[in-house]
Amino acid sequence: MKIFVEKSQSKPKVGERTIVIPLFEDQDRKGGVFEWSSIGEEISEILHEKEFLGKKGEVLILPKKKSKGRTVLVGLGKSEHFQLEVWKRSLGKGVRFLQERKILQFSIFLPGKIEEKLGVSDALRWSTEVLFTASYQFQEYLTNKDRVFENLKEITFLVEGERVKKEDEAQVKEGSVLGEAINRTRHLGNLPAIQMTPAYLAEEAKKLAKKYPKLKVKIFGQEQIRKEGMGGLLGVSSGSAAEPKFIILEWMNAPKAAGVRVFAGKSITFDSGGLSIKPASKMDEMKFDMLGGGAVLGAMRAIAELKLKVNVVGLLPATENLSGSGAYRPGDILRAKNGKTIEVLNTDAEGRVVLADALSYAEKYKPKVVLDLATLTGACMVALGGNYAGLFGRNEDVLAEVKEAANRAGEKVWPLPIDDDFVQEVTSPIADVRNLGEGPGGGASTAAAFLEAFTNYPWAHLDIAGVAWGSGKPYIRAGATGFGVSLLVELAKKWEKQA
Ligand code: BES
Ligand code: MN
Ligand code: ZN
Repeated sequence: MKIFVEKSQSKPKVGERTIVIPLFEDQDRKGGVFEWSSIGEEISEILHEKEFLGKKGEVLILPKKKSKGRTVLVGLGKSEHFQLEVWKRSLGKGVRFLQERKILQFSIFLPGKIEEKLGVSDALRWSTEVLFTASYQFQEYLTNKDRVFENLKEITFLVEGERVKKEDEAQVKEGSVLGEAINRTRHLGNLPAIQMTPAYLAEEAKKLAKKYPKLKVKIFGQEQIRKEGMGGLLGVSSGSAAEPKFIILEWMNAPKAAGVRVFAGKSITFDSGGLSIKPASKMDEMKFDMLGGGAVLGAMRAIAELKLKVNVVGLLPATENLSGSGAYRPGDILRAKNGKTIEVLNTDAEGRVVLADALSYAEKYKPKVVLDLATLTGACMVALGGNYAGLFGRNEDVLAEVKEAANRAGEKVWPLPIDDDFVQEVTSPIADVRNLGEGPGGGASTAAAFLEAFTNYPWAHLDIAGVAWGSGKPYIRAGATGFGVSLLVELAKKWEKQA
């Protein structure tokens, strides 16, 4: 996709090329946007006749004239309620609307009012990301070409304010890098588990390291995992014919003194529940159970592409959770890499068991902070729904840092508790910890309390079970969402500034 930024002329050539024009519900209906354009009169009339109200989510394509281009109006709702999320949705809807009509080359008008509210840089940055995320379609298995939407070709942002070309380019670059990284993460999630195996994930990491020579990759196979003493990962993998992989990506692009930060991502390429098998309904969705690791991979890609001056390590404990003849059983006791023992009460609580090894492994970096992302519990989804990830931890500084990054990224997180009562619940009478809480309630917190036992550094945990995939939003088609990629990159950008 080629992306250009142009200063909008006092009389942009509306009608000559396809243009997306955003309008507020309370837009001045005489002045502003309508005056300068040749099509202004027509828009004024449409507004006057109330054929288009400018409400959130509204999209209208004007009837085709002799001219080549089309004009598409997208509603922004009331200007006082306007914020980035509104713009992302409206633009995303417009982009999908055009792409689905095979219009792949168009301009997007960014009126002064939007630039004013979002800041020109942010407007360009986020609009670019939306171009990528809104137009992504999982099409690998569609053989009917009529159902395949083509990539956007050439997009031009028409901005009103005064611009510095170099800054525009940097924003468009960042938006493109993030958009592509997010889409790659979504793609990994959308791939069926028959293809997206631990080995496939490892190959993906190797490909990344090849693309960015400064990004170092290490892959442990079954033998190495055993030698490392990763009994959790080994145990969970025992019911599957697929070999587990422990994937390490190191991006060391800052002086040693800057310290190392670690992202760990749950990477269960399919979660059947194991012997504590899941019900059939929606079990298909468990191909998405690697999206914690997927987000980490996406973030590492973006961090490398943006050449951020930080030291960041990504850890992905990857395996299937199946119920083959060697499968680990309820009642088994496993020993994690840090020596702690885990009583397995439910083989479907496997995410925490593989993360125990990843979090233990992170110790060796003496990390300044470790953040893990995991599609960990249905309980978190029940508590927070499909828009908020659960944020856990007892280090207030780290929690604040993650929250700020989430805000900047436009990804919502909400704090949920860990305390000593939850820790008590996951304490086993016959082992150090058990992988199940006591009661039916508080499942997201007992899972977090379990993870905490494997940390001895500043740490936070994001339960992304509710947000990692979904039925779609105006700017994102159904399937994997790529949640977390932006958040992690925002964190890394912050760390870069601290250095
Ligand atoms: N991957 C699931 C969590 C999940 C469930 C994510 C549904 C998204 C939708 C996880 O491995 C799991 O099975 N968790 C169990 C834990 C329970 C056995 C303590 C759960 O949440 O039911
Ligand atoms: Mn499970
Ligand atoms: Zn799982």
